[in-house]
Amino acid sequence: MAGRTAIGLDIGTSSVRAAQVTITKGNAVLDRFGQVPLPVGAVRDGEVADPDAVGQAIKQLWASTKFSKKDVVIGVSNQRVFVRMVDVPWMPAQDLKNSLPFQVADLVPMPIEEAVLDFVPLDEIMSDGNRQIRGLLVAASQDMVLGAIRAAQKAGLKATTVDLTPFALLRSAGTTDPLSQFGPEAVVDIGSRVTNIVVHEAGVPKFVRILLLGGDDVTTAIVDRLGIPITEAERMKRDPQFLTSDAGADARRIVDAALTEFVDEVRGSIDYYLATSASRPLSRLVLSGGGSLSQGLAQKLATAVRSQVEYGRSFAQLTIGKTGLAPEQVRFVEPLAAVPVGLAMGAAS
Ligand SMILES: Nc1ncnc2c1ncn2[C@@H]1O[C@H](COP(=O)(O)OP(=O)(O)OP(=O)(O)O)[C@@H](O)[C@H]1O
Ligand SMILES: [Mg+2]
Repeated sequence: MAGRTAIGLDIGTSSVRAAQVTITKGNAVLDRFGQVPLPVGAVRDGEVADPDAVGQAIKQLWASTKFSKKDVVIGVSNQRVFVRMVDVPWMPAQDLKNSLPFQVADLVPMPIEEAVLDFVPLDEIMSDGNRQIRGLLVAASQDMVLGAIRAAQKAGLKATTVDLTPFALLRSAGTTDPLSQFGPEAVVDIGSRVTNIVVHEAGVPKFVRILLLGGDDVTTAIVDRLGIPITEAERMKRDPQFLTSDAGADARRIVDAALTEFVDEVRGSIDYYLATSASRPLSRLVLSGGGSLSQGLAQKLATAVRSQVEYGRSFAQLTIGKTGLAPEQVRFVEPLAAVPVGLAMGAAS
């Protein structure tokens, strides 16, 4: 039986990344993975700001990694995507789809005719004797989504699907093992500028938060406080040996303060969910993204959210195919691959 092949394209702030996955009879294989850095300013706050520069980088990515298709699934995650739990009157699925814009117009912080809408039904509830459907409403600015699609088009690609980045993360990095039966699991992807949080129970998303925060805030804090070039600050931040040396004491304090601030924001989002949903405590928090590699961050998060913190394994559900990557390269890219892998898995299954 021929498998289904899909390619997930993650347009991040620092890089464009793509993963090609083929699923045959339930067996998922990573066929290809590649990434190309983006120039500063090409993507701002999670949105394509310079379509030509992004298109150029994607073109380079397709030239350097031999993907077998030009159809891609794109992820979106920024301040122009709104995700909230909402209740709507119960009705057959098709009717709900047709009437969704009218049902949710008042709930969405943008003109409804300018939004791309999706609704993920989660539960049926009774409210004042009325049957209702509780679910996650996703509303994304059409204009922003088109910006991402156009960047892919500039590289000769066709975006067949646009997905919410946190949903992709849930597929690749979320776990449903026995520990996560004890309470919801949070998956947190920390990028340069965007942090995606998704809380789920047994694979069902319950809460999504997109924060404009990430590893670049740590670098910027070093630049501002020490008055050094960004490349040097970036190097310091990634060098645990330097940070623990006497010479690195100032940088260490700055990194520590920036991470504490960051952790407070993530804790705030998770505490909000736990308090408003009357949920059980978290069973675990799973990390991905380049920003999660900062030394000491996992420990700080574990204390703040009072749960176990682990690094997610983007390739855990995949067999590594003939990617052309050496085993150490596979290990290096795994924390960075959660989004494109999850996008591809959603479309290939
Ligand atoms: N070893 C490391 N230690 C600390 N920080 C790191 C390390 N490697 C990468 N980073 C940081 O990770 C961030 C980049 O992460 P990632 O590649 O996941 O972001 P992105 O997907 O391009 O951006 P975004 O998701 O925010 O749009 C940068 O801030 C970078 O400094
Ligand atoms: Mg990212």
